[in-house]
Amino acid sequence: MKLLHIDSSILGDNSASRALTAEIVHRLKLQTPGVQLTRLDLDAEPLPHLSAGSLAKLDATEAARAERALLDFLEADVLVIGAPMYNFSIPSTLKAWIDRVAIAGKSFRYTASGPEGLAKGKVAILAITQGGVHELGGPSEHHESYLRFVLNFLGISDVRVVRAQGLARSDLRASALNDALRAVPASLAQAA
Ligand SMILES: Cc1cc2nc3c(=O)[nH]c(=O)nc-3n(C[C@H](O)[C@H](O)[C@H](O)COP(=O)(O)O)c2cc1C
Repeated sequence: MKLLHIDSSILGDNSASRALTAEIVHRLKLQTPGVQLTRLDLDAEPLPHLSAGSLAKLDATEAARAERALLDFLEADVLVIGAPMYNFSIPSTLKAWIDRVAIAGKSFRYTASGPEGLAKGKVAILAITQGGVHELGGPSEHHESYLRFVLNFLGISDVRVVRAQGLARSDLRASALNDALRAVPASLAQAA
């Protein structure tokens, strides 16, 4: 099984989403011998935002990284994605990664009957963290719903979520994170 572990939090050791993805990956490795792990830390090594130069492949190093990111995505059986909410949406580094893997003809295509995702058969497990509490699909939430939509668009219908909300509240933070950590095994059981 090929596992792609992505983090995007800027909070390092204080990050709740990193704690959650680490727990998910740890458990997946225990549960599935011989996991091939690919790690993408989008804070330590962000992919450049798309530009006219990216499209023209002016920078060979950037083009090679983009190609690698796309291949790692296409080859993965399971994606574990740490996704904190920043300004009501996902971190821009995670969006920059999506811009590199959502490629017409590779991960989706347009057909006469509409778009078709080509990245089928994968499982995506999202570690969703928010400082506040935002109703899924509500006016302030362009985060989990966006990620679910774009992954579905690319053909990934099996999207599981481990969610910790209210992390900015000191009275809620510890219990929110602990509850989310406790929810990890159930999210993986669904993945079996
Ligand atoms: C730059 C920045 C923007 C944020 N914007 C929001 C926001 O719009 N809504 C919210 O509920 N929390 C917001 N937060 C709080 C984070 O979602 C919260 O700290 C969460 O724990 C981040 O996940 P992490 O611990 O993995 O970094 C923001 C945090 C940062 C650093």
